[in-house]
Amino acid sequence: MAEKVRAGILGVGSAVPERVLTNFDLEKMVDTSDEWISTRTGIKERRIAAPHERTSHYAAKAASKALERAGVDPSELDLIIVATLTPDMFCPPTACIVQDRINAPQAAAFDLSAACSGFVYALDVAVRGVESGAYRRVLVIGADLLSHVTDYTDRSTCVLFGDGAGAAVVGPVEKGGVLSTYLGADGSGGPKLTVPAYRAGSAGPDGCAPGQGCYIRMEGNEVFKFAVRVMPEAALEALRRAGVAPEDVDLFIPHQANIRIIDAAAKRLGISSDKVFVNVHKYGNTSAASIPLALDEALEQGRISEGDTVVLVGFGGGLTWAASVLVWSGERVPRG
Ligand code: UT7
Repeated sequence: MAEKVRAGILGVGSAVPERVLTNFDLEKMVDTSDEWISTRTGIKERRIAAPHERTSHYAAKAASKALERAGVDPSELDLIIVATLTPDMFCPPTACIVQDRINAPQAAAFDLSAACSGFVYALDVAVRGVESGAYRRVLVIGADLLSHVTDYTDRSTCVLFGDGAGAAVVGPVEKGGVLSTYLGADGSGGPKLTVPAYRAGSAGPDGCAPGQGCYIRMEGNEVFKFAVRVMPEAALEALRRAGVAPEDVDLFIPHQANIRIIDAAAKRLGISSDKVFVNVHKYGNTSAASIPLALDEALEQGRISEGDTVVLVGFGGGLTWAASVLVWSGERVPRG
């Protein structure tokens, strides 16, 4: 019998807008303070795209970096998945726009909507596709421009969100790879986090007018309680499926929504803070981009070495959650 193919991440990349929106900038826009935002969320600043820019712009940038580090030519891609809740438009899918931009003519392409859990949802699809032998090279992208759906008159949400993209190339690996994925959803909680209508670039002149429902509305407290419960549960289930004990995890990369949620989840899992990667202070919550952006920075900072066991875990709108356990098998092309 043929040996089971194991899928792994071959290369990672990310891209964020240059413009920085600090807590002090927000103090001038709504009734808030750097002190409130820092202590309640851990966020100090976030990146904001220009109104005319679209998600595909950052998705393609992140993708090109990931492909380069994976040593994979775009022409080798079989499939591109873009996880996003802020697509360029409803049709064509953002993944098709990226396919054209990076010149990957052999790749099928579709978008996946699972809010902040989207990257790990897409990773699950990619891993199963590679393991089944259907695909050899899958590009998984998490990209969101949340500033385009943020109401900058609502202090309870506008301090939280930012823009960015992260990408990973998935393919067969000989060592390490993705040991498990675990996805879940509870649609009954959907009303707790909604974007009722959508138009990319809603902050611009062609966008939605206030009151047209094009903004994120959230029951923050409710989502907070859900997150603190579901993050450790999801991570533990993924670890159980992988046959890995929590104490054997080298780095825990949680969805970067709020430092208090991250700390509470790590405490419940019994994981010390030095094993938890945090960059929420720099980018805020970038939804589907959050986990691959954090993974890319962790690699950049040398926080992950070959053979390390890494846990990715996210939660978000839907409500959804997703976790994955992987053993890092190294990028083909070294960084530097
Ligand atoms: O990717 C998934 C997306 N969502 C999340 O992960 C969000 C999960 N939720 C959270 O992170 C937190 O619930 C928030 C950061 C959104 C809010 O923190 P909280 O500690 O739950 O605050 P709260 O909503 O209970 O509000 C406490 C107080 C309220 O004032 P009163 O009623 O006590 O007088 C709010 O009006 O803080 C007030 N408040 C603010 N004050 C200053 C809410 N937002 C702000 C603000 N600046 N930006």
